[in-house]
Amino acid sequence: MADHTPPPVDLGAANEVLSGLRPFPVAVTTVARGRRNGLISLSAGSAAIVPEAPRATISLTKYNLTHDMVLESGVFAMHLLAAAPEEALQSSLDILMTLGGSSGRDGDKIGRLRTRDGVTGSPILLDALMYVEARVVHSLDVDESTIFVGDVVAAEVFSGGSRLRIGEAWKRLPAEWIDRYERNHEPQLESARRNRGLRV
Ligand SMILES: Cc1cc2nc3c(=O)[nH]c(=O)nc-3n(C[C@H](O)[C@H](O)[C@H](O)COP(=O)(O)O)c2cc1C
Repeated sequence: MADHTPPPVDLGAANEVLSGLRPFPVAVTTVARGRRNGLISLSAGSAAIVPEAPRATISLTKYNLTHDMVLESGVFAMHLLAAAPEEALQSSLDILMTLGGSSGRDGDKIGRLRTRDGVTGSPILLDALMYVEARVVHSLDVDESTIFVGDVVAAEVFSGGSRLRIGEAWKRLPAEWIDRYERNHEPQLESARRNRGLRV
């Protein structure tokens, strides 16, 4: 593959502008061929201005199993996590560590969480703060990831507490978990660079 070396850019400035734009980690779950899985994402957003026909967007890295499953099934649920009280925060950190710390390729993650089936069949995380469920209507292949846009087909607010911000979560996650996450992130980054035609 050709080497697409990027143009010289002030990476410090670029990353300052781009990082933290989406501060809320979400738990994305899906189901494909009867198998349930999910991951943590910082890429979720609203994708519509029409209040009576909401849409949600997520960007999933091709390296991740959840990516392949959403591509296949066209359904996902996207959950916001609670920041308080302490018990709810602990449940949020459990969800984050369970779904964001390893791949469903290495074993079932959803079975370790409290769930029920949603209208799309995606598992709904009962310890989340709130969720939307969506059916994919558009997707965009951006080499390293796919950006999915879905029509919201169900939504529920379980409790009215505040949303967990990723900055707060990093302060409370155990150091060993963060180390493992960073090690697991390396092959994901390499795969993304390869898919972009960048030097690995
Ligand atoms: C804070 C945080 C943000 C993340 N953001 C994304 C994201 O936006 N897109 C993505 O595909 N993976 C993201 N990840 C990585 C996945 O959650 C992680 O690789 C997961 O283990 C993939 O699981 P899977 O292979 O079962 O899909 C994030 C992880 C963390 C902890």
